[in-house]
Amino acid sequence: MEITLTSPLDMHLHVRDGEMLKLVAPLSARDFAGAVIMPNLVPPVTDDQALQAYTKRVLEASCSEHFAPLMTLFFRNYTEAELLAALSIPGFFGIKLYPAGVTTNSDSGVSSWQMAEPTLRCMEALGIPLLVHGESHGFVMDREEQFLPIYRHLAEQFPKLSICMEHITTVAALHLLDEYENLCATITLHHLEFTLDDLLGGAMKPHLFCKPVAKRSEDREALLHAALSGHPRVMFGSDSAPHPLHKKECCGCAAGVFSAPVALPALAKIFAEHGAADKLQAFVSGNACHRYNLTPPLKKVTLRDTAMQVPVIYRGYGQSVVPLHTEEQLPWSVCAVQE
Ligand code: DOR
Ligand code: ZN
Repeated sequence: MEITLTSPLDMHLHVRDGEMLKLVAPLSARDFAGAVIMPNLVPPVTDDQALQAYTKRVLEASCSEHFAPLMTLFFRNYTEAELLAALSIPGFFGIKLYPAGVTTNSDSGVSSWQMAEPTLRCMEALGIPLLVHGESHGFVMDREEQFLPIYRHLAEQFPKLSICMEHITTVAALHLLDEYENLCATITLHHLEFTLDDLLGGAMKPHLFCKPVAKRSEDREALLHAALSGHPRVMFGSDSAPHPLHKKECCGCAAGVFSAPVALPALAKIFAEHGAADKLQAFVSGNACHRYNLTPPLKKVTLRDTAMQVPVIYRGYGQSVVPLHTEEQLPWSVCAVQE
């Protein structure tokens, strides 16, 4: 059996910077026609010059003319002139908002919603999408649900602002999504595959630790249903977040699952097993293109039900990163890419 995808997109991707960027960017650029690139570098990407320079580094590292990085700024209070300057940069896509301190490199995130309002109003007027890491500082399993009233407030206060609920993990988030047309959501591969039990129920698996943390089986099933049924406002966003081996296999494990190199084969397996191969195109490209009016580079990626042996580790440029499904054989693989 084969599935051919047209211009697959990863709507939430961390490629980092420096040597790590050089190692991981080509892996996404090989399988995807484009990806939304997260801005939580150290320091974060917060002005047009940094954005332009980072875009150039991502393009260089991706080693492909058929991969469009969709670049984001890290949310702070921006003036209209600053937003207009960002809009003039080719590849600029949107602004990623992190509540202060909720995850990796988010210390300078938002700590006052009231102070954020003028920027949000201006983004709404200029048609700049807002992407949100929606978690509170509460009990780890409840953080997403505790954040939902803030999504509701944003959706109501800014009805013309396109708001993406990033990497949703709960039934409750899906219910909220259905209430407001100006909300959309990304779903990761790992939240379609795993629950908290896989991370912690037996021996602890540091390579499955991420934020938001994987939830209950009923949550995973609801996410699967949304993706497999072709829900028009859910999109694939891997949240592939590479950390060097020594930062994962240690005391104080960093949050992040490095899934980019296995994303499409693993998604093909899930969709084929559920008899929903025909819905994969919408999840990995169609819904995002429609939502954001995107015209990514044309790239045909053919997946076939022949095995992919996942490497134990990806090494290069002095970096070592362990991928999701390390050492496993996946029943699907990418067999051809036509550009
Ligand atoms: O698991 C995660 N890793 N969640 C995030 O929100 C950030 C990401 C990272 O940058 O490592
Ligand atoms: Zn992320």
